[in-house]
Amino acid sequence: MSVQLINDVKSEFLKTFNIEPILVFSPGRINIIGEHTDYNGGFVFPAAVDKGIAAAIQKSDSGSCTAIALDLESTIEFELDTLKPSKEGSWENYVFGVVAEIQNRNKVVGDFNIIFKGNIPAGAGMSSSAALENSVVFGLNELFDLGLTKTEMILISQKAEHNYVGVNCGIMDQYASMFGIKNNALLLDCRTIESKAYEIDFKEHQLMLINTNVKHSLSDSAYNDRRSACESVAKILNIETLREASEEDLEEIIDKVTPGNYQKALYVIQEIERTQKAAIAIEENDLVTLGALIYASHYGLQNQYKVSCVELDFLVEQAKKNKHVLGARMMGGGFGGCTINLVAKTEAKAFAESAAKAYKNKFNNECSVYFIELSDGTHLVQ
Ligand code: GLA
Repeated sequence: MSVQLINDVKSEFLKTFNIEPILVFSPGRINIIGEHTDYNGGFVFPAAVDKGIAAAIQKSDSGSCTAIALDLESTIEFELDTLKPSKEGSWENYVFGVVAEIQNRNKVVGDFNIIFKGNIPAGAGMSSSAALENSVVFGLNELFDLGLTKTEMILISQKAEHNYVGVNCGIMDQYASMFGIKNNALLLDCRTIESKAYEIDFKEHQLMLINTNVKHSLSDSAYNDRRSACESVAKILNIETLREASEEDLEEIIDKVTPGNYQKALYVIQEIERTQKAAIAIEENDLVTLGALIYASHYGLQNQYKVSCVELDFLVEQAKKNKHVLGARMMGGGFGGCTINLVAKTEAKAFAESAAKAYKNKFNNECSVYFIELSDGTHLVQ
């Protein structure tokens, strides 16, 4: 958690509203493996990180609500009985969406003011949106004694994203952000929404992110398209989600699906299996196997599921050329953002520098490197 962020939102809140706020920190996440499997009822392997969103929140007696995004220096005023989605791409939709979804559950939220600020790089695929949604729902739950469980809260956050932001996301991001455990990653079964924690200590190796610093447009619509493609294959198979399918099942309907959708469904089935194998590899501290699974995940995302981009592929290629990197792949929804790399600790910096140099030569653009710590999920800060 960043103390600086908390101090910033707190002092700004006192200055603006003249009253002590409740303080919430809500983290972003990484994902070791298991990409685009969550909305298919499969397994994912995320962890909350030490970057996130700090929010200061308190009741308002002015007759309306105010939300301030400090990073963007943007302020909005709104009333609770006239909530509707704002224009596409605006940050307030995360706030409006969460409030509206709480109201949909017949819980009563009163007027409130909120100020937030974050240090998750936008578009990095580290779930700044889930962190924001969770900070709002967590803060409101506390403030108005709504009695929501953490699971209810993440379902509210997810619905906000579906109905107000327009992305039909799965549950991974909100789950990881809310339930994160320091120094652990969570093998999450998205069918039951239950997870098993794995302590992550890769000894001589570590995880490192490299941000392409690009986010290609249309990524939201491509995301929704992928989800629909998976659902259409599941429908042909007469099952609820692709989690229930095997490669043999898919083979049987090969004539009924497009080659593109066949590959996408195959990717999902294989990625769910890789994620379970990764958990075993971590248990056995077999990092060579884990690394190979991570590379295979990227291969599938690039060639079968087709959600990568040249910048991500380039960074993974750089990793493959370096024997100290055991695995690398794109992370998150795709079309930009970060790669996650499993790299020898003593060589991490040198690899990052050489990859950054090659990247600059190739794209005339800087990439950014993040060494992350696995952290606790959304919580109150005293
Ligand atoms: C985004 C979504 C998640 C998940 C990933 C891909 O981060 O919000 O639900 O689907 O993409 O694994």
